[in-house]
Amino acid sequence: MKYGRTFNFSAGPAMMPEPVLEEIRDEMMNYRGSGMCVMEMSHRSPVYQKIIDDAEQDLRDLMHIPDNYKVLFIQGGATLQFSMIPMNLMKNGKAVYIDTGAWSSKAIKEAKKVGEVIVAASSKDKNYTYIPDCSNLDIPEDADYVYICENETIHGVTWNTLPNTKGHILVSDQSSMFLSRPCDVSKYGLIYAGVQKNVGPAGMVVVIIREDLIRDDLTDLPIYLQYKTHADNGSMYNTPNCWAIYCCGKVFKYLKDTIGGLEKMEEINRKKARVFYDFLDSSKMFHGTVVPQDRSLMNIPFVTDSAEKDAAVVKATKAAGYDNLKGHKSVGGLRCSAYNAMPIEGVEALVAFLKDYEAKNG
Ligand SMILES: Cc1ncc(COP(=O)(O)O)c(C=O)c1O
Repeated sequence: MKYGRTFNFSAGPAMMPEPVLEEIRDEMMNYRGSGMCVMEMSHRSPVYQKIIDDAEQDLRDLMHIPDNYKVLFIQGGATLQFSMIPMNLMKNGKAVYIDTGAWSSKAIKEAKKVGEVIVAASSKDKNYTYIPDCSNLDIPEDADYVYICENETIHGVTWNTLPNTKGHILVSDQSSMFLSRPCDVSKYGLIYAGVQKNVGPAGMVVVIIREDLIRDDLTDLPIYLQYKTHADNGSMYNTPNCWAIYCCGKVFKYLKDTIGGLEKMEEINRKKARVFYDFLDSSKMFHGTVVPQDRSLMNIPFVTDSAEKDAAVVKATKAAGYDNLKGHKSVGGLRCSAYNAMPIEGVEALVAFLKDYEAKNG
């Protein structure tokens, strides 16, 4: 790694593509002749308007977002969406949620403060190690939407087949798999993603929402919490997270022009994940915790047979230059997060280290 950088396996904030960081560095003191850094720039200036417009256009190109969807850059991270979604989309005061891990559970908890939540399927019985069968859910006719977390960052499960919503609107938290593979936006009513995993610096969420779901009858709702406010003002009702939008824009362009699109990105991610899962499947000391068909390409939880051994491995990997492999405190064990920007060499080097560790300690 250049610059003494480490292979950072953090679940987020996470690694960014090195060429993007270099470009940001080169533009830091004087952005393209503007005489200032993007951090110092008025969001009402023409030069910044071009930055946000280009960012949106590159994302639209990358995901082939249909014209009847708005792209919004909102603050409050992905967490604010746990509340904004039910506040804006619960017309009948009722929604269906699928409980697949820590992040959908948090969203359920917040939605219950707003209206009736029907948990139509859950994998809690097996500690969230699989995606439940959602091909024939019991969905009330008047449910406003069906909600999923498409990749559970902590438990490491991912949806490979979307639920059968029986004509209801699908809402998806894509935070930890956004732009990791192609996505047919037309299948969703709303997609959102906190950007600090696959895209940019923390503190912002991208919301992609079908236009007909943006309501103008919610005038009692605080102004910032209405999607209409952000849609009507080009994500600049108030001062946006200018810096994050700029950095995310660079990553969108990088994925589009340098990687060559999301099909290509998926190919790379599948290759990377394969290296790690093949290792887990052949190891006697380390075991993956998720059923093979629902394994995440991004977040790979794994364990030894004891918490003490897990802790020793975390310590050894950190000392060897592989950072942030400790599993989330709620589940323990280890977790290898290999987002878009993690090079395959990082995963290969980690696997070589773990193989060697097993040979000496297994
Ligand atoms: C799937 C998922 N949803 C939501 C969040 C919350 O994101 P934020 O910290 O940006 O609010 C996270 C954070 O890790 C996440 O992994």
